[in-house]
Amino acid sequence: MELSLTDLTAESIETPCLVVGVIDGGQLTPSASAIDDASGGMISQMVESRDIDVSFGKTTLLHNVAGIAAERVLLVGFGKASKLERGRFDRACLAAGKVLRNHPLSRCHVCLHEIEVEGLGESWRLRQAALAIYRANYRYTTTKRRKKNSPVPLESASFQGSRTHQAVLDQASGMGVGFHKARELGDLPANICNPAYLAQEAKTIARNFDLVELEVLDEDQMAELGMDALLGVSRGSTNPAKLIVLKYSGTDANDQPVVLVGKGITFDSGGLSMKSPDNMIQMKYDMCGAAGVMGAFLACASLGLNLNVICIVAAVENMPDGNAYRPGDVLTSMSGQTIEVLNTDAEGRLVLCDALTYSERFKPRAVIDVATLTGACVIALGHHASGLLSNDDNLANDLLSAGNDVVDRAWRLPLWDDYQSQLDTPFADMQNVGGMSAGVVTAACFLSRFTKNQCWAHLDIAGSAWKWNEKEGATGRPVGLLTRYLMSVAGVEAV
Ligand code: BES
Ligand code: MN
Ligand code: ZN
Repeated sequence: MELSLTDLTAESIETPCLVVGVIDGGQLTPSASAIDDASGGMISQMVESRDIDVSFGKTTLLHNVAGIAAERVLLVGFGKASKLERGRFDRACLAAGKVLRNHPLSRCHVCLHEIEVEGLGESWRLRQAALAIYRANYRYTTTKRRKKNSPVPLESASFQGSRTHQAVLDQASGMGVGFHKARELGDLPANICNPAYLAQEAKTIARNFDLVELEVLDEDQMAELGMDALLGVSRGSTNPAKLIVLKYSGTDANDQPVVLVGKGITFDSGGLSMKSPDNMIQMKYDMCGAAGVMGAFLACASLGLNLNVICIVAAVENMPDGNAYRPGDVLTSMSGQTIEVLNTDAEGRLVLCDALTYSERFKPRAVIDVATLTGACVIALGHHASGLLSNDDNLANDLLSAGNDVVDRAWRLPLWDDYQSQLDTPFADMQNVGGMSAGVVTAACFLSRFTKNQCWAHLDIAGSAWKWNEKEGATGRPVGLLTRYLMSVAGVEAV
């Protein structure tokens, strides 16, 4: 979708749909007020008489408003907020975006960034409004037949403002591209999106950007490296595992890269410690970590950021068969540390530990793994925050502020030594499960044993990566957080 700016005033813009925000009981924004004047006070009258509901997140579509050039007006309620919080601003913009997405409109003009948000300037509001419209414009279509007269995605959106703001819109579309890619990969079923498919996607990304190179390791190459933990998980599947390594060289070759590592379990049956049907139906989404890092990588390449990034995807399917790994098996990881597998459903950490050891060779300035790692994270934080655990306070704080800035938020949990003993076993250097308590933390403790020499953070996105109940599917998170972080490493100034 193309994002552009115009300095025309709201009443004079010829567009299929003009999108305007209204505060309940507050003053009309400049654009709302311009339409109101042009229409002889129609908007203010309808709001006052409550014919239009301007409570938070409510939208109203009006046709043939007198005196203006636009065919329609979409009024978006921001509620009674005198001090609007950034998350609420985002949600109202997303609600507007969804209405646009569900209509057969191909263009719109958006004035939502005129709504004040506490502590944030116009550029920030513009970027977030544009990003919300962009994100909402996604719809999964790959395995559906297109029906006649079904809604079409927007081709372009214009925004009120001078052309000096174009860089802000470019940030939004860069992130938007990444979000869409992550959602699409997440939503694809596991019979299409298997490890080879993810490798093919990586190939497409590499082909489209001069600064991107790709290496894909097959199972033989991984065996040579000693990645027995990763390969143990893969043994029960007929779809061979792939270790996908994408390299983006956006600056001097000597500059230490940021390494992103994604859990790419394309389907998690649980293996022999099999999941119940209710817990298994969602498990095509168990590659959302991979989707998130690939989406952020794509965003970074699209924006041409000045830094080096390496994206490692551990693409593996977790299935049970006669060859599958068993509870009680002991695997030797690439690091040499041995692992007793007490539950074959705790497979994410097994593929990640080898990918994290592999990342050492790139001497990263920071390594960040992203994974739908634990059901415990969904219990702890629900669907709104990603779990963040790190062995480095600066990195943790940088990631938290990146997430806050783009409203793709994370919450930090402790990684104290006290939890480590939950992984003790008489039969190996560690076991792969830590018992009932603090499941998010013990999973991260497991990973921490493979990142001792690296500045490392772990994002558990089991709750944030998809919305099941609302039938929304993948969210594309944490593409926003990661991209914003990469932007700050690359020296892109905050808007
Ligand atoms: N992919 C799951 C985690 C998950 C569960 C993500 C539910 C999203 C929703 C992971 O591989 C898993 O099965 N984890 C187990 C670990 C346990 C066996 C220690 C879990 O969380 O139950
Ligand atoms: Mn599992
Ligand atoms: Zn899993």
